[in-house]
Amino acid sequence: MPDRLDGIKACVFDAYGTVFDYASAAAQCRDALGDKFAALTALWRDKQLQYTWLRSLQRSHADFWRVTGDALDYALETLDVHDPALRERLMACYLQLDVFPEVPATLERLRAAGLKTAILSNGTPGMLRAAIENARIGHLLDAVISAEEAGVFKTDPRVYQLALDRLALPAAAISFQSSNAWDAYAASAFGMRVVWCNRYGQKRERLPGAPDFEVKTLAELPPLVGA
Ligand code: LAC
Repeated sequence: MPDRLDGIKACVFDAYGTVFDYASAAAQCRDALGDKFAALTALWRDKQLQYTWLRSLQRSHADFWRVTGDALDYALETLDVHDPALRERLMACYLQLDVFPEVPATLERLRAAGLKTAILSNGTPGMLRAAIENARIGHLLDAVISAEEAGVFKTDPRVYQLALDRLALPAAAISFQSSNAWDAYAASAFGMRVVWCNRYGQKRERLPGAPDFEVKTLAELPPLVGA
């Protein structure tokens, strides 16, 4: 196996779970959620993703803000939390997620090596703008690409195609990073080179695609793409 990817011109990142820590939304409301915090984080995320896949299959798109709210409502009801003010607070926290600590320095290093950087996410343009502003990383990104432009969610190939179109690069010149195994495998099946940032210790997917590398954090990325 080669020890790095050759010919990479851009690094494209998934947002939630990869650049931004989605668990930090419920963590910011731990005072109100108490011991339900961990269960809420897991259920909210699982349901959010399921709704993206189901809506894409059903050809019944609604944007990621709506899907995130619907998933939160499901999770709160499941956990027997009935508190409209807390619901609004959790949604507001989703716009102010923590950035994973290694992300700014990693982006800086990639750009210093002449690589382009971008986010490709299911998030709406407004959600991504808020998270990027909060994390103060806007100046480190060449492009922010929302699945809204395709009107469908990952893993539809039209979403990955948005990155090629915006960056004017072939798939083989792009390294895609995601902590979501299913997203990493799908980008690989699409034709991108892929570094799976396996923060959550997930098992390999039994799906098309094969990530080129698996790392624990994005700090390991630059040498893999020659930066
Ligand atoms: C995203 C989700 C899948 O940012 O994490 O697209």
